[in-house]
Amino acid sequence: MPTDAQLSLKTRRSLFASLLALICIVLVYAAFQRDRPWVVPEEVKKLKNPIAPTQSTLKAARGIYVEECAQCHGKQGKGDGPKARLHFPAPADLTDSRLMNSVTDGEIFYKISEGRKPMPSFKKRLTEDQRWELVLLVRSFLASSSPSAVEKKPDAARKTPAPATNP
Ligand code: HEC
Repeated sequence: MPTDAQLSLKTRRSLFASLLALICIVLVYAAFQRDRPWVVPEEVKKLKNPIAPTQSTLKAARGIYVEECAQCHGKQGKGDGPKARLHFPAPADLTDSRLMNSVTDGEIFYKISEGRKPMPSFKKRLTEDQRWELVLLVRSFLASSSPSAVEKKPDAARKTPAPATNP
């Protein structure tokens, strides 16, 4: 018969081991979260935006953006909203030309629709048209943030697949 003291030592040891294992799992998970590529189905990548970029569609998208997105992504899309610091990974900088030139409209649409923690999914909250309008708005951030973006050929750039890993 083991005494009470021996039992508690055993219990403590196994508790400690489980705790250690848990910490390892969390660390590996966090590293994985940061580096995992965001895979978008090929057929969705090729989708074309059915909405025309008019003043009124951009204005409508602006309204939704301020309500639903700006707290994380910031008013100008720089990823610096008031809640940005609370999230891991940090909200994407939608004015980052390297990132935005590497994704198609279909990809942006998919990412807004599906979300990925901590970003929520907007499939049920917004209509398809509203999500496509947001794609137009997201595209407008880059154009307005850097003058050189206007000279770039978005069509050529969009065909380049996103790098699998971030340097
Ligand atoms: C709770 C904070 C939060 C909210 C609200 C939010 N996002 Fe995000 N968003 C994120 C985070 C975090 C990422 C990065 C996710 C990742 O890479 O795993 C992201 C990524 C994105 C991306 C992908 C960029 C890329 O290609 O890698 C787009 C586009 C985007 N968000 C647009 C939006 C739009 C549009 C809205 C509003 C409808 C919105 N987000 C609302 C946090 C948020």
